[in-house]
Amino acid sequence: MNRKQFLKTCGLGCLAGITGVTLLQGCSSTQGINGEIKDSDLIVDLKDFEIRKDNGVEYRKYIIVHHDILKAPICVYRFDAQNYSALFMLCTHQGAELQVFGDKLQCAAHGSEFSNKGMVESGPAEKELRKFPVTIDNNSLKISLK
Ligand code: FES
Repeated sequence: MNRKQFLKTCGLGCLAGITGVTLLQGCSSTQGINGEIKDSDLIVDLKDFEIRKDNGVEYRKYIIVHHDILKAPICVYRFDAQNYSALFMLCTHQGAELQVFGDKLQCAAHGSEFSNKGMVESGPAEKELRKFPVTIDNNSLKISLK
């Protein structure tokens, strides 16, 4: 192997390594979990928001909760230890499933955008997202599906 081939091989190896690490870091910032149903509530463990680090605990901005009985997942935003919003990830325009990008939920179908409290930020959707009441019960969040 000559010098040029060596540099080319090493460069591609480094690029692949950097890309892999970046992708893994991106995955660690959000979490999709399966909730548990009790009566008419979807139960989420508050620990699912935690990211344990050497120097303490950080919190995810949101988690995405799945359950077989739901037509779409529910995105639960954490504003602080006492304040959460639970939003049905179904676009109010024509019912496409939404995707979460930080503090916004976006619809790939026609471009509607919603805030982390479910308000329409850009259309064509006109109605806000369905919101579920959230209560804190010991170390769990109860998301009422009634
Ligand atoms: S279905 Fe979401 S913008 Fe049309």
